[in-house]
Amino acid sequence: MFRLEPKRFDEARSRPRNSAAVFAAALVASAVVSAAAADGRLSPARERELTYLVRQDCGSCHGMTMKGGLGSPLLPENLAGKHVDVLASIILDGMPGTPMPPWRPMLTEAEAAWIARALKEGLP
Ligand code: HEC
Repeated sequence: MFRLEPKRFDEARSRPRNSAAVFAAALVASAVVSAAAADGRLSPARERELTYLVRQDCGSCHGMTMKGGLGSPLLPENLAGKHVDVLASIILDGMPGTPMPPWRPMLTEAEAAWIARALKEGLP
């Protein structure tokens, strides 16, 4: 798993759009990328790290409290009508034509789904 990190890091770094946010996220993610359990469930430590990533990195656009900014608000009431899978794929692939960047280089699908559920329930 660690052998993959320099590549992920370089890919994240070479992205022209939002490179500062993605670079910062890569630093957080690369330190903890091996924390996911083999069965796809996340460790409590990884969940804490993702919560921090969401507040810091997503929060740079969506607001630290998710009430919106450059990015739309991501509070439970804003996401109530949206399916976890739809939100997870927006997180993984971004929204082309908007500033919402893709996070696939930094997050697994299980992690994106966890973030989508956490946002819908309200961040811990
Ligand atoms: C560089 C700014 C930026 C960053 C960083 C960012 N977003 Fe976004 N995001 C946006 C913008 C702008 C939109 C709205 C796009 C539109 O609808 O025009 C958006 C939309 C979304 C949506 C869709 C919301 C909806 O109501 O459909 C989700 C979910 C989302 N972002 C999650 C995240 C998560 C999770 C992160 C961190 C892993 C993140 N975003 C980081 C700018 C950002």
